[in-house]
Amino acid sequence: MSSVVIVGTQWGDEGKGKIVDLLTKHADCIVRFQGGNNAGHTLVVDGQQFIFHIIPSGILYEDKRCMIGNGVIIDPAVLLDEIAELKDKGLPVTPQRLLISENAHLIMEYHKQLDLAQEAARSKGKKIGTTGRGIGPCYVDKVGRVGIKIGDLLDKSLLADKLQANIDEKNFLLTKKFGAEPLSFDLLLDHVLAYGEQLTSYVGNVSLELDTARKAGKHILFEGAQGTQLDIDHGTYPFVTSSNTVAGNACNGTGFGPVHIDAVIGILKAYTTRVGEGPFPTELHDQTGEELQKKGGEFGATTGRKRRCGWLDGVVANDAVRLNGITGLAITKLDVLSGQKSIKMCTSYKLNGSTLHAMPSSIDKATGVQPLYEEHPGWDAEIDGVREFDNLPAQAKDYIRRIEDFTGVEATIVSVGPDREETLLLKNPFEAEK
Ligand code: GDP
Ligand code: IMO
Ligand code: MG
Repeated sequence: MSSVVIVGTQWGDEGKGKIVDLLTKHADCIVRFQGGNNAGHTLVVDGQQFIFHIIPSGILYEDKRCMIGNGVIIDPAVLLDEIAELKDKGLPVTPQRLLISENAHLIMEYHKQLDLAQEAARSKGKKIGTTGRGIGPCYVDKVGRVGIKIGDLLDKSLLADKLQANIDEKNFLLTKKFGAEPLSFDLLLDHVLAYGEQLTSYVGNVSLELDTARKAGKHILFEGAQGTQLDIDHGTYPFVTSSNTVAGNACNGTGFGPVHIDAVIGILKAYTTRVGEGPFPTELHDQTGEELQKKGGEFGATTGRKRRCGWLDGVVANDAVRLNGITGLAITKLDVLSGQKSIKMCTSYKLNGSTLHAMPSSIDKATGVQPLYEEHPGWDAEIDGVREFDNLPAQAKDYIRRIEDFTGVEATIVSVGPDREETLLLKNPFEAEK
């Protein structure tokens, strides 16, 4: 029996979906614990691509139990679309395969409208570059104690009361502050009730079920979304998302006790990307940045935006190791570095004559740091066909060994291509000693 948490170590899109899918083979339950459909997790199985925004990436294995924890926020229309798409592909999602926490909050139409209106109203330099999916406004309502939980769909009069109070306030904001059209209460209530009819059979107590699974000796995999530098507390605030993305939230976001977590796997892209605005010390604005973007296919899986690209940032990696308690690294997209003459890794920042070994909390400082690099020789050969660590080019092995040495954490997985098969599983985290 063991419980393993997967988290992103950078600014998201590290390849979490692929690694979750891979490790699902060894797990019994897979549970998402935060974020919403701002996430886009891509997996490729036998050449077929799947993109999930809400449903855990473990869903492709038909005999596994997938769960959505209370920390996740759900756009019901998007969830139903995802369920329908899987059904079309011959993978019906039944309540036996998917359980949704009754405490998960719902993203409502007004959250999306407010997200877009707030972002449009921000001046240049202040824009966050949100996904426009209503994430921030929905979490605001949750913390403000006015949110609507998926469990509320079971009680029509409670739902109508809550919705009425919310829509009065949101329409005031939409019309008076942003000059937008008001939303209709009746229409919204009808939509939400219709979603409720389709979703209530999936709703239950995730915490209870995880506890039963753990006591029965099952393997549990916790799937994080986004990345450590997008964490609401620990990331490059305010250019972050609105949830805690770090491993500790696997417990809050599902109702699971921290002492039962056995391993935390940090997904680390062999270089760095970021979508949206905000500081990115190792960003490349040159030919190399373009090469990484192109070879890595670095387009956002949710919004289709081009991802900004840069060298691996060891400062960011070490922040992630500390903030998440990472016990093993999954180094992804190593194949994208093939063909680079030399590969740089940032080892510290310089700021006003001082050397920094952690991302500064002040956004001005985070924007102003200069990365200091060490340089490693690259390799020419394509490595997507490699299946044994020893068969990697010597320079690629040295690069991985250097990352392990710098972070103090061993690489347990190395990924050399998008397909499930294109992976070197060096150590199975479900078999790791605590
Ligand atoms: P996530 O949000 O962390 O799940 O990552 P995304 O799915 O948004 O982005 C990662 C992208 O890289 C996806 O298109 C994956 O199919 C792809 N990918 C994952 N691992 C590898 C790898 O090792 N090599 C290459 N070339 N692509 C990969
Ligand atoms: P996955 O799970 C990359 C970014 C957005 C924006 C900021 C805030 O696929 O790694 P939000 O809509 O959350 O309020 O936007 O966070 N962002 C992501 N970037 N991958 C993600 O998820 C992201 N989810 C949000 O681009 O900069
Ligand atoms: Mg993604």
